[in-house]
Amino acid sequence: MRIVVVNNYDSMSDEVAKLVIAKIRKKPASVLGLATGSTPLGVYELLVEYHENGVDFSQVTTFNLDEYVGLAADHPQSYRHYMEKNLFAKVGMERKRTHIPDGTAADLDAECRRYDELIRSTGGIDLQLLGIGSNAHIGFNEPGTPFGSETQVVDLAESTIRDNARFFASADEVPTQAISMGIKSIMQAKNIILMANGGSKADAVFAAVKGPVTPEVPASVLQLHPSVTVVVDQAAASRL
Ligand code: PGA
Repeated sequence: MRIVVVNNYDSMSDEVAKLVIAKIRKKPASVLGLATGSTPLGVYELLVEYHENGVDFSQVTTFNLDEYVGLAADHPQSYRHYMEKNLFAKVGMERKRTHIPDGTAADLDAECRRYDELIRSTGGIDLQLLGIGSNAHIGFNEPGTPFGSETQVVDLAESTIRDNARFFASADEVPTQAISMGIKSIMQAKNIILMANGGSKADAVFAAVKGPVTPEVPASVLQLHPSVTVVVDQAAASRL
């Protein structure tokens, strides 16, 4: 595990965007695993700038980590909407190469199996971006999720609902379930970048990087992966 501590959010975004662009330059048909939430917004802004300066995304395939159950693609808080607004529409992605679980599928379990199968059929994820929850979740794999889990329907932890209420009119409107890529699905990515900023993530980052490897700290599984880069600002790294 390589740990890169940078000054602030902008430097974190800069560092991660550079790693993503290096991957795309090396392999234009890269398969990227993408995250949502507030952490990667700066990275996506920079990827748009790189695209405006000539980096071609037309052969890139993407898989997002998760989607809320029950939110249609055009719901303003759906992760499909987030990705369209912050990245896909701005970098000329071919939509058929962008994959996000369908949280409105009639058969959610079948949708989860389809998603894992689709990832496998592309040859796997070359570079997976991850944020981390204040409870150390990755994707929506909450504490206690078995490390062997594949993509599945998950119940969101109370703390996650509280953390994400800021994006909704009230906590009551936050969906209580999501489809999340599983821990095993994430660990199959060839390279992983975990990013975190701010003091509210310091305990989670510490537990993930220095604590025991346990399903109670989902991000701690990354200690077992051969190619992980952790990019954190000083506030998130304050306990390391
Ligand atoms: P955040 O979420 O980027 O909005 O802090 C991170 C996460 O929950 O994984």
